[in-house]
Amino acid sequence: MTARLVTVCNQKGGCGKTHLAMTLGGALGARGLRVLIVDGDPQGTATRWYAAAPEGRPFPATVVSLAETRGQIARALKAHLDHYDVIVVDCPPSLDSPVTLATMVVADVALVPAIPAPGDLWATSRLVGLVEQARSLNDALQVRVVPNMVQGTALATAALQALREIPLPLANNWFGLRTAYRQAQAEGTTALGLRDARAALEVGALVDEVLALLGLASAAAAEPLPPETTTTGKPHRATGSATKASKTTKAARKTTKTAPKTAKTGKTAKKAGARRRAA
Ligand SMILES: Nc1ncnc2c1ncn2[C@@H]1O[C@H](COP(=O)(O)OP(=O)(O)OP(=O)(O)O)[C@@H](O)[C@H]1O
Ligand SMILES: [Mg+2]
Repeated sequence: MTARLVTVCNQKGGCGKTHLAMTLGGALGARGLRVLIVDGDPQGTATRWYAAAPEGRPFPATVVSLAETRGQIARALKAHLDHYDVIVVDCPPSLDSPVTLATMVVADVALVPAIPAPGDLWATSRLVGLVEQARSLNDALQVRVVPNMVQGTALATAALQALREIPLPLANNWFGLRTAYRQAQAEGTTALGLRDARAALEVGALVDEVLALLGLASAAAAEPLPPETTTTGKPHRATGSATKASKTTKAARKTTKTAPKTAKTGKTAKKAGARRRAA
């Protein structure tokens, strides 16, 4: 099978591109898929994150840097297509870098992490032109803005409403602002590896949503939820976003059953795969 390709992009620095690429890639790897995370950023954050994994507990996906290939990254990706189920590219925070457009032209899905704050909204809106450019060459490209660092349930609704101003579709799931995500980077793992239950709920729901977009919903079973304890060992009650994530997980699991029938996402993913092979 030719790998499905996800590119994670936004020219806004610090909005969570590497966090999303590593969390998604690691979670897909933990579900048994063969996952390659491509560090397309000369800063090398994903590469360092991967290298921070302790001996005997490797990061659950492979990370390789192709940052130096710049505009040739699509060609460089081709060498990996037959060896992985999913390839996730972590793009650099620059509109001047050719990596973002080059990967969107061959990707099945572009994920755009965005912090619901005014500066981030304006910056993310600037990506719209680039998406249109990519779509003129890749009409199968599916795009989702993924809210990141969403705080509190009351604030979340207003924040998500603000993100709807960006003329790109919003993902059904998002990341809350959680210490576990920062800690995971420092420890060379994912929040799932830290067994953070709240993070596990929202990550699981987002992974299900992305798998459905990729037409792979039936290929990777949802992982069992971790015990109801946080990394501090204290029990907790689900927050609004986690509850929502849980509901969405169930909905996504239903989608899993129907995905092969609807097959629209599968078709578009296959179309993008054919284009990548031709690149
Ligand atoms: N949901 C979150 N909760 C808490 N911390 C987060 C979250 N998402 C990202 N962070 C932290 O915010 C910082 C910036 O995130 P990240 O490196 O993923 O952004 P980026 O968009 O890749 O940045 P750059 O543009 O420099 O590549 C990191 O320290 C990361 O651990
Ligand atoms: Mg980064």
